[in-house]
Amino acid sequence: MNSNVSKTKLVSFISIVIAIIILGHYWNIHNGYKNEVSSRSQSSDEKLSEGSDKTRNYIVTDNVEFKMETKQTQKKLTKCGDIEEDIRRSSLEQVKPLLPKVPQSHKIKKGIEPLCREDTRPIPDNRLTDEESKRQQSCINNFKTDHAKGSGQFWSGDTQFIRHKHHKYLNSESVVLDIGGNKGEDAEAIIKDYNPGVYVILEPIKTLYKALITMFKKNPNVVLYDFGLGKKNDKFFVNVVGHGGDATSVFIENNKKDSCLLRVYNTTEFLIRLGVSCFDVDLITINCEGCEYDILETLLSTNITQRFRHIQFATHPTLKHLKQPAERYCEIQEKLSRTHVISYQYKFCWESWTRKDIATK
Ligand SMILES: *[C@@H]1O[C@H](CO)[C@@H](O)[C@H](O)[C@H]1NC(C)=O
Ligand SMILES: *[C@@H]1O[C@H](CO)[C@@H](O)[C@H](O)[C@H]1NC(C)=O
Repeated sequence: MNSNVSKTKLVSFISIVIAIIILGHYWNIHNGYKNEVSSRSQSSDEKLSEGSDKTRNYIVTDNVEFKMETKQTQKKLTKCGDIEEDIRRSSLEQVKPLLPKVPQSHKIKKGIEPLCREDTRPIPDNRLTDEESKRQQSCINNFKTDHAKGSGQFWSGDTQFIRHKHHKYLNSESVVLDIGGNKGEDAEAIIKDYNPGVYVILEPIKTLYKALITMFKKNPNVVLYDFGLGKKNDKFFVNVVGHGGDATSVFIENNKKDSCLLRVYNTTEFLIRLGVSCFDVDLITINCEGCEYDILETLLSTNITQRFRHIQFATHPTLKHLKQPAERYCEIQEKLSRTHVISYQYKFCWESWTRKDIATK
């Protein structure tokens, strides 16, 4: 009788312990899921769906069966961990207009059409004038000496940090676009000094992009996208060289397994979707291993150029895959000088331009 009672008690006790263990397990899973999703809640729909994939990874760490299943559906196809879905994606649907975040002071007008799409127009007959062509030619002739001088000066001592320190006009109301986020060095410096209200970073290399998400997850002003910009929507497989891939060069033919996916989107369409036709951007800073030519040429082919108060960019004129870097750089100089003036310049290396109406204030 007594032993039966204690047996029953023991069985109930064990059942309760098991129930607690199971409940605790589910509680952990549930919380893990919530944490993972909320840490990414500032990103776009598409990234949210990516986020839920990651959530699955998170949940499966103590569930072997599930782990094997997700491994199959998420086979990593490149060195950077790009999966099938990354490679298939090819639209800008994920881009969310910045308009709700942009201060009233930056808005050009209250557009009836929410993105002011009609306000961005191609520049008709966008060739250089005779005078501009002459200046372009002399710029090309001086390429070798000016490049040596420009990069020599820029990389000596602390001069290079002008790219962070120069932008004293930025403040907590400012809107900044950072094309080529890389390891976040420039973003971190500019955010630390000026804390811009909106800071958009584009970084197409998945490993770097993921590191940026971690770096800025506590900053609600930072908006991150995992693609780059170019003339048109396109994708490449690139060799990521250097530690952590900070010197990625495009167009190197390679086996997918040794390289990483690099997606670029039409610069004009991306900017329109952000809503840039409707408001002024304080600074666009472009540093993307040679893509600055395509981006600046595209920018300068429409009048959206005038929505940028300051335009800062690096130049990489010695990359093998670039055609006519000096010619293109010198043409960009001429076209930019129609609307902007140089605010600092290390020729063929790094420089920043200011819109004429602001420069003369
Ligand atoms: C671009 O041109 C269109 C058509 O002339 C004009 O309505 C619009 O305001 C211009 N946009 C800028 C930024 O100057
Ligand atoms: C890029 O997008 C703009 C705006 O939608 C469009 O007018 C232009 O034709 C596109 N360029 C290319 C090369 O697809």
